[in-house]
Order: sequence, then C-alpha cells, then structure tokens
Amino acid sequence: MPYEEISPIFAAVLAAGKGTRMKSNRAKVLHTICGVPMVNYAIAALKPIEPQRTLVVVGHQADEVKAVLPPTVEPVLQKQQIGTGDAVRVALEAIEEDEGTLLVVNGDGPLISYHTLTELLERHRSAGVGATVLVAELDNATGLGRVMEDAGVVRIVEERDATEAEKQIRLVNLGLYAFELEEIRRALALVLVENIQGEFYLTDALEVIGRRSRAVTYRVKNPEEANLVNDRAHLALAEEILRRRILDEHMRKGVTVRDPASTHIEASVEIGRDTVILPGTFLRGETRIGSDCVIGPSTDLLDTVVDDGALVEHSVGRGAVVGAGASVGPYAYLRPGTVLGEASKVGAYCEVKNTWVGMGSKVPHLSYVGDAEIGEGANLGAGTITANYDGENKHHTTIADGVFTGINTNLIAPVTIGENAYLGAGSVVNKDIPPGKLAMGMPARVIGDASKKVPEEGKRDRNGSRHGGTEE
Ligand code: UD1
Ligand code: CA
Repeated sequence: MPYEEISPIFAAVLAAGKGTRMKSNRAKVLHTICGVPMVNYAIAALKPIEPQRTLVVVGHQADEVKAVLPPTVEPVLQKQQIGTGDAVRVALEAIEEDEGTLLVVNGDGPLISYHTLTELLERHRSAGVGATVLVAELDNATGLGRVMEDAGVVRIVEERDATEAEKQIRLVNLGLYAFELEEIRRALALVLVENIQGEFYLTDALEVIGRRSRAVTYRVKNPEEANLVNDRAHLALAEEILRRRILDEHMRKGVTVRDPASTHIEASVEIGRDTVILPGTFLRGETRIGSDCVIGPSTDLLDTVVDDGALVEHSVGRGAVVGAGASVGPYAYLRPGTVLGEASKVGAYCEVKNTWVGMGSKVPHLSYVGDAEIGEGANLGAGTITANYDGENKHHTTIADGVFTGINTNLIAPVTIGENAYLGAGSVVNKDIPPGKLAMGMPARVIGDASKKVPEEGKRDRNGSRHGGTEE
C-alpha cells in the first residue's frame, strides 16, 4: 500500500538562514550550483516522493528566496532566524495536522538524492519510530553536529558545544530527518521552552523524542551525498560533483565530451546524440543542442538553440538560434534575437543582434549586423556594417535574397536592399536599392544592373576599387 494511504507525508525545507560562513551578501541557499539555486536541489529530491505539502521556511532575504522557488512549494516566513528548531516550528504551524510524517531537509545539502530520502522514509516507517536522522561517518567532521546513538536515543551535539572527546566522533548529522508529526510537535514545544535565551536546535528535539518513543539513525549509502555546503570551498566541491553527474548523463545518452574537466553544462541543457563538446565550453540556461553538432572549443552559449549538424567554435551566444548545418565562428558573438537559417554562416569577428539570417546566407568576416533581416543566399562582404542606431532610435535593415555587398559596406538604417542587388566596396547606402541593381559610392547610387558586375563607363569606380566583395 502506498504511504499516502497509511498516513500523509509532509515536507519542510529549511532555507531561512543567512549562511554566515559563505561570507556573502546573498543568502546561502541562493548561491547557484550548475546554474540552479542551492535550495532547489532539496526541493527536486523531494518531488518524486509527492508529499502532500512541501513548505519552504524562508527568512533571510525571504523575497529573493521566494522568487526562485517553484510554484509547487509553499513558502512560510520565519521572522527571526533563531535556529533550526524554530524553523521547523514555523513549518508545523502551517501544517496544522497531527497525523503523518514530516520530512525535514536542510536547504544546504544539494547532493542529497531522492533515493536516500525514500530509503530514510521507508526505514522510519517500517521501524515505527518517532524520529530518524540521516548520518554519515566522515574523516573530517569539522563544523557538523556529532551524533551519539544509544538504545533508541539519538543525541547530537553541535561542534561549538562539544567536549574534546565528543569532537573526536566522526558520525555526523546530515540535516535530513523524518519525524512523526505528533512527536516533533510535542518535543519542540519542550525544547523551545527550555531554551528561551539561546539558539533553538532542532537536534535537541531528537533527544526528547528518543526518550519518549525511540529515535534512530540512518546511514547514507553514497558518501558523495554527505557534501553539505557551508562555505565557498564546499560550494566548489558540490559544483564539481554535480557538474560531473550532468556530464556523465549526457555521455550515457551519446554525447562526446572531449574534456569533462573543462566542460560546464547546466542541469537544464539538452544535447542530441553524436554531438561533440570540445574543451572550455559552457552551455547554460535554456540551451538546446541538436544531434551531430560540434560545439567548442571555448564556446559559451546561454539560452541558445543549435539545430542538428551545426558547428559553433570559439564563440558566444545569448538567446540566439542557430539553424541546422549552420556554422558560427571562430570568434562570433550572437546576441538575443539572432536567428541563423539552415546552412548559413556567421564567421570570424562578427556580432549579430536581433537579426534573421536566411538559409545559406553568409556573414563571414568582421561585421556588425543588428536589427536586420537577411534573405536567402546573400553574402555580406568583410566589414559590412548595419548602422542601426542614430543615437536615439534603432532602425531596421532589410537585405533581400541573393544580395551581395562589397567589403566595408555601410548600411544606414532604415534601408532596404532589393533582391540580387550588388553593392560595390566601400558603399555607404542611405537610400533603398532596387532589386537587381548595381550600386556604389558614398552615398551609394545605382550605376547599372547587378548582372554587370563591372561598371559600364571605365572598369573602376571613383574610389579606384572594383566593387569587390569577399568570397566565401
Ligand atoms: C545543522 C545541524 C547540524 C548538522 C548540520 C548539517 C542544528 C542545530 N544543527 O547545523 O547538527 O550537522 O546542520 O548541515 O540543526 N535555518 C533556518 N532557520 C534558522 C537557522 C537555520 O531556516 O533559524 C536553515 C538554514 O538556512 C540551513 C539549515 O537550516 O539551510 C541549516 O542551518 P545551518 O545554520 O547551516 O545549520 P548548521 O549550523 O550547519
Ligand atoms: Ca549547515
């Protein structure tokens, strides 16, 4: 019979503390690991258990913490951060019930898994005890509560209160507990009264419960999960482990990761099979990579979609879309609103913003293209620039199918270059160019048909150049 039919499960995530040892202006649980705020790991581990309600106790920077919580949890406010015991009391006030089991999870244990939570819960329920606490035997127990267990009573002493002998104990409290609701209510009431002055330790309630109705420990099986985060060194260690888990998962699904040590992929990213990720690559946010792509080396993509078979090297993408078979870089910068069509190319030292680049079109070298629409099969010569900003407003540039621009073409927006038009090198275009025409000069004027790539009178234009573009 599923647990829910026996008696309900509630969960409380403790996330109100400041995290003094982080030496941060931000609450500890807001620090991200692989792009995700720390508190959300505990919440994710609880989710498959489907507690009837999941309360998140917030306090320090409550609004900021609330802002990162998923809608499935209920924040409750602990007005003063006077200890973990008081934090659980706040959660209990919101729950009201007396029947059922309460899972309490410290918000700073991002590596605790759903499996461990489930096993702890099963053990707790089958043993019929009042409380169960997750523990681990560590070589270095510094900073953690030391655990002593004897005949159904668990006593935990915090490091700052421990005697020299107690400090030698290597069995530590991992800050994850299952409590029978009735027991924890009763015990906390006693502890809080005794403790009016100091900090209210949740761990003290454990001892009270043990004396009434048995408390037991449960040892975590995977030692990795014992990596709690109290300072920045712990944060880096947790990041290292979680980062490796994410990479392993991608490799299992058929992604080649050349150098896991230098590859950073956030939990939210998706990658198709046979894609190769080269060293020094960061894939973040809502980035989605298709199959058969090559990404990197030294590439940083945030919220960027890359379709099958595309190549992105030594480049930065922010909110961009790269079409199938397209090629980006080296050293390209794709900014929000960039959409590169199938088999298109944005090459070396190009910046593209809020621009549609049509199928097979090329922006191969040293260009800035912003607020533009480029049709299919166009080729922008090296140094082609859209002057999209007049100092006050942004203006649009339209470059139709098959347009060819010579090197150092300046397009003064708003402007439209008609289909298959051809612009000579160094043109400064401030008026629309009709389809099929050849134009050049400053300001550019039409001097013939684009089919005649060489001007009619004389073979060179005023600047002495031959309209030339750059090939690619
Ligand atoms: C606590 C345990 C310790 C255990 C360790 C594991 C107590 C008294 N001690 O110590 O035995 O080894 O966790 O990490 O519980 N919090 C609140 N409100 C508060 C205080 C804390 O919500 O008033 C939250 C924090 O945001 C944090 C969690 O509770 O997520 C643990 O608090 P923290 O101050 O880190 O406890 P420790 O001193 O590490
Ligand atoms: Ca802690």
